[in-house]
Amino acid sequence: MTKQNIQNRINYLRKELNKHNYNYYVKSQPTISDYDYDMLINELIKLENENPDFFDVNSPSQRVGNDINVEFKQIRHKYQMLSLGNTYSKQEIIDFDNRVRKTIGDNFEYVCELKFDGTSISLTYINGKLHHAVTRGDGVMGDDVTSNVKTIKSIPLQLHGNDYPDELEVRGEIIIPLKAFNRLNEERIEIGEAPFANPRNAASGSLKIQKSSIVARRPLDCYLYYVLGDDLKFDNHYDNLQSAKKWGLKISENFKLCNNIEEITEFIEYWDKERQNLDYDIDGIVIKVNSIEQQEKLGFTAKSPRWAIAYKFKAERVSIKLYSIDYQVGRTGVITPVANLEPVQLGGTIVKRASLHNADIIKNLNIRINDTVFVEKGGEIIPKIVGIDRSKRKKDSKPLIYIDKCPECGTNLIRSEGEAHHFCPNEFGCPPQIKGKIEHFISRKAMNIDSLGQETIDLLFKNKLINNVADLYDLKIEQLIPLERMGQKSASNIIKSIEESKKVPFQKVLYALGIRFVGETVAKTLSKNFNSIDNIENAGFERLINVEEIGEKIAESIIKFFNNEINYKLIERLKNKGLQFKIFEEEQNKASDKLKGLSIIISGTFKNHSRDELKLLIEENGGKNVSSISKNTDFLLAGDKIGPSKLTKVKKLGIPIITEDDFIDMIK
Ligand code: IVH
Repeated sequence: MTKQNIQNRINYLRKELNKHNYNYYVKSQPTISDYDYDMLINELIKLENENPDFFDVNSPSQRVGNDINVEFKQIRHKYQMLSLGNTYSKQEIIDFDNRVRKTIGDNFEYVCELKFDGTSISLTYINGKLHHAVTRGDGVMGDDVTSNVKTIKSIPLQLHGNDYPDELEVRGEIIIPLKAFNRLNEERIEIGEAPFANPRNAASGSLKIQKSSIVARRPLDCYLYYVLGDDLKFDNHYDNLQSAKKWGLKISENFKLCNNIEEITEFIEYWDKERQNLDYDIDGIVIKVNSIEQQEKLGFTAKSPRWAIAYKFKAERVSIKLYSIDYQVGRTGVITPVANLEPVQLGGTIVKRASLHNADIIKNLNIRINDTVFVEKGGEIIPKIVGIDRSKRKKDSKPLIYIDKCPECGTNLIRSEGEAHHFCPNEFGCPPQIKGKIEHFISRKAMNIDSLGQETIDLLFKNKLINNVADLYDLKIEQLIPLERMGQKSASNIIKSIEESKKVPFQKVLYALGIRFVGETVAKTLSKNFNSIDNIENAGFERLINVEEIGEKIAESIIKFFNNEINYKLIERLKNKGLQFKIFEEEQNKASDKLKGLSIIISGTFKNHSRDELKLLIEENGGKNVSSISKNTDFLLAGDKIGPSKLTKVKKLGIPIITEDDFIDMIK
């Protein structure tokens, strides 16, 4: 390559990498696979190293990962948080092994572990208590996210046993399990929030939320993989991990001592297949020298330890034909482009569709109908289009023009400033929006009208019997019976369960209305704080945002909802039909200080309340729910099947036992 060619290539790589960094970090919408990204950055680093005259401080190669957030307090890491050298090639593992042998000889062992794909965290325990939790930041300083991390149930706040060192640091990865991730995204789509691109982004985003009460509802989990401290119990990594497990720290079962390259390769190959069956993403294997003394001998480079390396899996990838693009219209009018693909077997399932998310993604990929596209499925469940095979593009192919009219109702689409999605503003006239709203209204967590489903809603809509949720309550059995696939029995079930739904409590009715950004929890918070729909309607912006967990975006959406004449009329009709628009009186009288100063323990199962509900009732009435019995406990609130040892203990201490009914009487 001539100097000029090298300069051109370096410039090209810097430009590409800057673009991908922006897509990934700013927009959370990567358009390139991790593998391709790593290939580009490695090529750039290599060219820059070989040609130091082209050095540039602003090159993407000079960026040290930095996730510092100005809103959090900064804490300096006691031990720098470095990353790992990584590779996709087995030859480089052999090279690594040779380097290690050169320094420490042949008498050593490796530990092979899973490389968890989440966001790294460092936990410090002092005298067994979780003292602080800090993100990687720039490796030297990180964000103090202790209060958020404390919400993660698998992270012990107090270590078990008594043989832990006075000061202990453990490092690990915060992740979101795949099933929980999919549920989280479904819920976000339900309330009109943009879904997360992948579990890793969702985990790191969740950790940076300012309110830990919101973090507590994110399904975060954590695997720990590295123990540090001045007086660790053992002189090797493997045994230290085992002792950390005994202290109650969550350490994966899947790590193994390996003696040679063959055993390492076997571990890699096993997990490259088996990762399909894990409920979380891993993106490779980490290989570490076991002995701490030997680790110290090997030392560190500026960025990573010389005693460890990560082998990254290539995501399973196929190249297939893109047939067409469908544009789906969601309940809130959001348009999602979906690619129809040549069906192909990938990662254990047949893939024939992939979401293209929004117009920007399509533009960045520069995708065209009939292109051959690369589709990948890592550990993630949803397949991704990560690029196109330009060599297979037909000469006559034309750039794709994104739709500007709703494919369902023809209304001009809108795209607001700063929003990634287009949406159809025809809220009350666009069929999928009308039907979507009704489907949401009848769903299990909302009005729970289980005799109706998507197909019946379609049928009723097609026959012009319903056009909004209030119409459901006007339905007559005689109108239903003549419809196709409907008999006397199902018709009467439908009417019966619609009637039943009038008893559904206010918080669920509020959720059922489908106000944008008002999910199940927000609805619960609103109903608890305002008691009735009228109070919510009249609260105004300031009072709404004064409530913990209600931000400006939610408040604005609520106000917009009530300002709309159609919504207002709809609610009036529903009120007249007898739906619950305020909380039950029993609940309204709930908050009191009747249990002030009382410590109450709950045990067993109950007829009318869940344990969480009882706990809430205790707190709302000024009491304290305690988890272990002592002479300071005032009552045992006992249900069925209470543990015999608990019973003996309370009897011995003379603590009074009350039933669920006694308890409700007490707070009445
Ligand atoms: S050890 C000094 N072990 O991968 C060595 N890291 O680029 C510290 N990771 O920042 C890391 N699983 O966030 C280690 N079993 C594992 C890991 C792991 C995931 C992450 C970690 C680190 C990155 C390396």
